[in-house]
Amino acid sequence: MDSKPYTFDIKLPGGIPDHYDNHIERRLSSMRGQFLDQKAYSERLAREDTLLYEVYEFKRPEIAGELLHGISIVHPGKVGNEYYMTKGHFHTVLETAEVYYCLQGQGYMVMETPEGEWSVEPLRPGSVLYVPPRWAHRSVNTALDGDLVTFFIYPGDAGHDYGTIESQGYRKLVMDTPAGASIVDNPRW
Ligand code: F6R
Ligand code: ZN
Repeated sequence: MDSKPYTFDIKLPGGIPDHYDNHIERRLSSMRGQFLDQKAYSERLAREDTLLYEVYEFKRPEIAGELLHGISIVHPGKVGNEYYMTKGHFHTVLETAEVYYCLQGQGYMVMETPEGEWSVEPLRPGSVLYVPPRWAHRSVNTALDGDLVTFFIYPGDAGHDYGTIESQGYRKLVMDTPAGASIVDNPRW
């Protein structure tokens, strides 16, 4: 692979880079079992397979020493009272970290470790979030009127373990409540 230095521009507002290698779209149908309100999920899915978030990636070898990077855009909306969010994952190589830089919007990163620690950190333009090794991470867009745009960077050999989150969810959820966006215990945990 070409190993020459390169630059790219991220157009704001919006967050779409002026070039990229992969564009991933994640729709409601790929989030089965993740939203708390399963009735709201099924009813919505019967109407439309909503686009929840998109990722623009730069292709680099998935090996130690490389840094994979790209842009994540979570669209605004809710399923029931739960905001749109990413699937979330542990890294397959658990001892690998990640950095997120929030470019636009408003939300949270919901994180937890296999040992049961949890953390929910706010994301707003200019926030830099360090996700340490061992912490599963999911971004949540709490602004109902705009996208949550983040730039991410993580080790080339990290890999993604989606299965653990898919089977048990996160300990904490971010819900729209009368008091605003609130972090609540996941009753299904
Ligand atoms: C990579 C990473 C981000 C996410 C992206 C989409 O390790 O954390 O690039 O992949 O925000 O979220 P997921 O991968 O959970 O669907
Ligand atoms: Zn990650």
